[in-house]
Amino acid sequence: MTKLKLGVLISGRGSNLQALIDACAVADYPAEIVIVISNRPNARGLERAVAVGIPIQVIEHTAYSDRENFDRDVDAALRTVGVELVCLAGFMRLLSAWLVEQWPDRIVNIHPSLLPAFKGTDSHAQVLAAGVEVSGCTVHFVVPEMDAGPIILQAEVPVLPGDDEDSLAARVLTAEHQCYPHAVRLIAENRVTVTDGRAVIAN
Ligand code: GAR
Repeated sequence: MTKLKLGVLISGRGSNLQALIDACAVADYPAEIVIVISNRPNARGLERAVAVGIPIQVIEHTAYSDRENFDRDVDAALRTVGVELVCLAGFMRLLSAWLVEQWPDRIVNIHPSLLPAFKGTDSHAQVLAAGVEVSGCTVHFVVPEMDAGPIILQAEVPVLPGDDEDSLAARVLTAEHQCYPHAVRLIAENRVTVTDGRAVIAN
């Protein structure tokens, strides 16, 4: 089986990276991770990659005076190893329009809310403040606008009485770990097409 080559971009803990690593370890999973790139040298996720022999690269954003030069080096690192799909997994940098345009419908992100609701970095706090009873996660294609782009897959979790940000985040994270590998599988199986800004899944 020819596997889709993934490049995973992280900034921190890397539990979604781990979910992808675990999925890729199953023989019939149609994708493989060929590089993990972090913008932070101390991201814990890097250790997860090293532990299973996946090449890593640190590209520190602090070394760059402008975003596009950083993104050009990220792009070059991805191309060098033949990446076909870029997976943002807790990558806390906005991508430049330039980088997004190099990878049309070839960059995916996971966000810890049911988009388009509760964009940004404090989704769980927003959910609790709004008093909604359902939250969840979204896997979507990346477009230049933050937390927008065609939605591939969503999973719901309940917001329970007494929840705080940590308890809600933990429940959502469990759903993320299911959802992200599943969405990547659908893409790798060529079952996802984007038409008029919407992602459609075949069968
Ligand atoms: C995850 O909850 C992910 O959805 C979120 O950061 C966390 C990363 O955790 N991403 C965003 O908020 C992107 N806007 P992880 O490093 O353990 O995968």
